[in-house]
Amino acid sequence: MQILVICTSDVDTIKSFITNQLPEILYIIASFSAGAYQMYMIEKKIMFVTLIVVPISLIASIIYFRYVEKKFEEIEEVEAKMTIALQENINGVRVVKAFNNEKYEINKFDKRNDQFRSMNEKLNNAMGLYWGLSDGTTMLQYALTISVAIFLAKKGMVSTGDIIACMMYIGMLVYPVRSLGRIIGDFGKAVVASNRVNEILAIPDEYTLNDGSLTPEIKGNIEFKNVSFKFDDSNDNLLNNISFSISKGETIALVGKTGSGKSTIASLLTRLLEYNGGEILIDGINLKDISKHWIRKNIGIVLQDPFLYAKTIMENIRIGDKALPDEKVYEASQMAAIHNDILEFSEGYNTLVGEKGVTLSGGQKQRVAIARMLILDKPIIIFDDSLSAVDTKTDVQIRNALKMRKEKLTTIIITHRITTAKEADKIIVLENGSISDIGTHQELASREGLYKMLWDIQGALEKEFDLVKRGDNNE
Ligand SMILES: Nc1ncnc2c1ncn2[C@@H]1O[C@H](COP(=O)(O)OP(=O)(O)O)[C@@H](O)[C@H]1O
Ligand SMILES: [Mg+2]
Repeated sequence: MQILVICTSDVDTIKSFITNQLPEILYIIASFSAGAYQMYMIEKKIMFVTLIVVPISLIASIIYFRYVEKKFEEIEEVEAKMTIALQENINGVRVVKAFNNEKYEINKFDKRNDQFRSMNEKLNNAMGLYWGLSDGTTMLQYALTISVAIFLAKKGMVSTGDIIACMMYIGMLVYPVRSLGRIIGDFGKAVVASNRVNEILAIPDEYTLNDGSLTPEIKGNIEFKNVSFKFDDSNDNLLNNISFSISKGETIALVGKTGSGKSTIASLLTRLLEYNGGEILIDGINLKDISKHWIRKNIGIVLQDPFLYAKTIMENIRIGDKALPDEKVYEASQMAAIHNDILEFSEGYNTLVGEKGVTLSGGQKQRVAIARMLILDKPIIIFDDSLSAVDTKTDVQIRNALKMRKEKLTTIIITHRITTAKEADKIIVLENGSISDIGTHQELASREGLYKMLWDIQGALEKEFDLVKRGDNNE
């Protein structure tokens, strides 16, 4: 949210300062010096009288705009809160209704809205007062200058024509000073905005930071050697001495409690996070020597809660390569066991996803995301809990489709579901940041430990799984 505000409203503030106020400053300088010069030529005294009020109104406007600036910041904060409340209510309208929270949410919004309004009211009052007073000062200055001019005219020091000329020149001096105050205020705002924008721009681009340069052909052998990792803001390592290897075409399953670091391992492999110790090798090459773009081009990942664009299903599936032919899309969808679901929609593959189209179920979303990844033919694929919302039968169907491929992919399946893990060539059990066991299902199910425990608990599911399995074996 904060980043969004910076990218839109702060950038706008800077833009409008540069396009509107900057040229105005030039105008002010020109007008002010021309006016002052002309008056000086007519009569020094008149010019000095006119300039007396200038520092006073300049200081007053600086003080005023400092105050306004602070208020503006507060208002922006309240406005952001109000927008967040609105956005949450629109996105989470089902939650609000399901929990009968309408009253509470309306009150919450009203409170922020009231706060926003009263702050704006205060600001507007202050503005009214300031502009009123400042107009008064301007008039006072006119009066002062004209009185002095008349006085001097009576003494015969200036002509009546000079008085008329001076009246014109006062405007050239007074109004610029008045707008200068506003510009100083806007300048303050633009500085605040540009500081915030610069803070974001100063964050180094991840591709210029420790990026490797190699782009070798990736076959799919992966080796973790004593890898450890800790988040910058935490004291303890989340992962300790993680060592395992996967050969090209193998399927491994990563099992562990929520929060045990499974997704983090996937992020380390795709270099979304940087490991602090040990080494990760791909086909024997140090991961840090390979270009990040190249790694991500070769490792596909499906997340648990994938994001789909508000485009058609067809467009969503070939988002990674828009030139892919329709046949490839159908093929990938079939592998991801979503093809038949899509055909059932009124507009098939041209059905829109999201607000204006269909709302896909969690499982359908996951399968579209799987198709979107499979279509790209990457040698290494990761399913990060991405079969969780798919029923067991479909889960098996997808994994069988993967097994049938000519070219076997190196597959990492992160899962809670033992029946999903069971089929893997190797199962890695993650506990308290370390690997507590590695083995095949047979090995792990026969010795005490977390895996056996989960296997016993999920035994009920196994029955369902068995039925499906028998069906598959009859092929
Ligand atoms: N920025 C962060 N700083 C500190 N801890 C974090 C951060 N992000 C995630 N974590 C913690 O890291 C742990 C591991 O997360 P994750 O790898 O997603 O686990 P899993 O996928 O096994 O459920 C979680 O306990 C989470 O709270
Ligand atoms: Mg996870």
